[in-house]
Amino acid sequence: MKLVKPTSLLVVLLIFATLPSIAAPPRDDIERRIDALLARMTLEEKLGQLQILDGEANGNYRPEHLEMIRKGLLGSTLNVRGAKRTNELQHIAVEQSRLKIPVLFGFDVIHGYRTIFPISLGESASWDPAAVERSASIAAAESAASGVRWTFAPMVDIARDPRWGRISEGAGEDPYLGAVMAGARVRGFQGKDYSAPDKIVACAKHWVAYGAAEGGRDYNTTDVSERALRETYFPPFKAALDAGVGTFMSAFNDLNGVPTSANPFTLTTVLRREWKFDGFVVSDYESIKELINHGLAANEAEAARAALSAGVDMEMVSRLYKEYAPQLIREGKLSKANIDEAVRRILRIKFRLGLFERPYTEEAREQATIMSHANVEAAREVAARSIVLLKNERDVLPISKGIHSIAVIGPLADDQQDMIGSWSGDGRKEDAVTLLAGIKQKLSPSTQITYAKGCEIEGGASDGIDEAVRIARDADVAIIAVGESAAMTGEAASRASLDLPGRQLEMVKAIVATGRPTAVVLMNGRPLTINWLAENAPAILESWFAGIQGGNAIADVLFGDVNPGGKLPVTFPRVVGQVPLYYNHKNTGRPPDPNNKYTSKYLDALVTPLFPFGFGLSYTRFRLTDLRLGASIIRPDGRVTVTVDVENTGDRLGDEVVQLYIRHIAASVTRPVKELKGFERITLKPGEKKRVTFTLAREHLGFYNRDMRFVVEPGELKVFVGANSVDGLEASFRVVE
Ligand code: GLC
Repeated sequence: MKLVKPTSLLVVLLIFATLPSIAAPPRDDIERRIDALLARMTLEEKLGQLQILDGEANGNYRPEHLEMIRKGLLGSTLNVRGAKRTNELQHIAVEQSRLKIPVLFGFDVIHGYRTIFPISLGESASWDPAAVERSASIAAAESAASGVRWTFAPMVDIARDPRWGRISEGAGEDPYLGAVMAGARVRGFQGKDYSAPDKIVACAKHWVAYGAAEGGRDYNTTDVSERALRETYFPPFKAALDAGVGTFMSAFNDLNGVPTSANPFTLTTVLRREWKFDGFVVSDYESIKELINHGLAANEAEAARAALSAGVDMEMVSRLYKEYAPQLIREGKLSKANIDEAVRRILRIKFRLGLFERPYTEEAREQATIMSHANVEAAREVAARSIVLLKNERDVLPISKGIHSIAVIGPLADDQQDMIGSWSGDGRKEDAVTLLAGIKQKLSPSTQITYAKGCEIEGGASDGIDEAVRIARDADVAIIAVGESAAMTGEAASRASLDLPGRQLEMVKAIVATGRPTAVVLMNGRPLTINWLAENAPAILESWFAGIQGGNAIADVLFGDVNPGGKLPVTFPRVVGQVPLYYNHKNTGRPPDPNNKYTSKYLDALVTPLFPFGFGLSYTRFRLTDLRLGASIIRPDGRVTVTVDVENTGDRLGDEVVQLYIRHIAASVTRPVKELKGFERITLKPGEKKRVTFTLAREHLGFYNRDMRFVVEPGELKVFVGANSVDGLEASFRVVE
């Protein structure tokens, strides 16, 4: 791994050191200043603060923005970025508008601003919150240096259906892992005070249960019980809120008959009354206008009323608030207090950002911050920690760097665009190191490296396969990069099949048939039904879309400079017909029994996953022993420590992710067969042994009972500790009144 050049690091540190460390004004001072502003604002100026409009895709602002900002009729934009451009708009707001309220510039900085890290599902596969926080922190510094002070991230939707393309944007299927990652991302983006010059305000999205879309079809209906909301879909949002997230984004989906962008239960009862959230809620892109399509609003005026009165403070792109609020107030259907409360929340975040004290971006900083050597090196390290080793028969991997010849094959092997994934911010494909480039950089010129694309990702002819087979046959080892295009994942990218698209499998089969040692590198944004690969490919690496340093990171793993330690944050099914398939399922009255027809299973498929949640291999081996509980009986408000010894019994340094699961054997409401309640990624030298300790307390043991109260009930609990959600050591304890 190359060390960071001290000069570049020193330059960046010097620049930050000279910045005015303006903090936001004190909180009660902010409220007074908001009162004073509100008292002076016209209704049009207030509605201007409730509006966010879209810039050009290339980051430029639109001409109409200038006049609207000058008149105080536009408080925020999305996609406008670059220190120079944002300063141009900000000068108009701060020097020419009547009340000089700064503009808030927002952008989708999901997994990097310009230095693009692995997609969020990939980063979450690191099970390393510190790495994820570091990635978000770098994204924040690059965003802030470019005038962007608000990101529409983290996306914290729990997703149990890999047909849904947006599973790629979050942390997978589990509420505990999702909550840990949500907190890490918010802390990375915001730090302790997001008025700092290298921090931005984050946005927990999409509030809520957007990932429960029927059929895995994006934007589709969701019907989720309150208990499932509170136990599965809320926790990552609550973790984001506990980490101080400044904004939420309401979603597109109809939730139990009331669309989330006009749902008083989620937007006001839970978010404001229960959770005391005091930031603001922005709608998703025209999700307010879409209330008409949903059949909730008969017209645009009703859509505006329903959304604003339910608790959506800022309208993204559609302009119904601006258009209809005056009429709705005149008709007594909306109160000025509604408007003022929404304006107050938005101004509160602008004050906390320090925008009034420091509205402009130092243009000199942008160049020195963007794609700094340290940032690029971090992208490589985080990408390597995100890689999951799914199979490694006969230790095909790691490959010796002294290998004589290597064939690099596949439509994704030398593909810069797809390497950076979807929602890749201001990322540029030319910044990306492909797998082929990474392997070339890794090996000496004496190694003969050949390359063949073989086939397209989707469709296309198969005439390239013969060439791919030929170079594989002539090489000592073949590396095949297959998967999805970035455009096949993310928003509006649901798939009814989870198979490798196009002729990729046909190509892999032909290459494996040569009998040459072969390793498959997957590049994808969702679990794939790769049954044939799992059976027949000697080695499989899951690399997700690994970001601009993906090629170097995968090469670090392929040639053993990094021992892979990632674990799956989501279940890989065998066939799409099993979906939804997730580890923390209920037991049912007839759990699957291969020897009993009348149990819950399929006639034509196994019920077990191809690869389970939490699964990942290593180039070394680990052994877990001596699981101990600190008590065999605790009271409902008690806690119990869980310890286990982990030993590296192999010959190579490596990481293991020790995972703690629980199960309530019986309770007033049925409980999942397993629930993740703790994990720790540890590094062990060969022969080294460490003791890992967890604590189970009320927040881990409780659940929502029939009265929807969060309680710890008496009863027996099992504890499972392992290296994935299937295998491991077991113990039990009791909760007694
Ligand atoms: C999109 C997405 C949302 C994104 C917003 C702004 O439709 O649903 O995640 O933040 O619009 O780009």
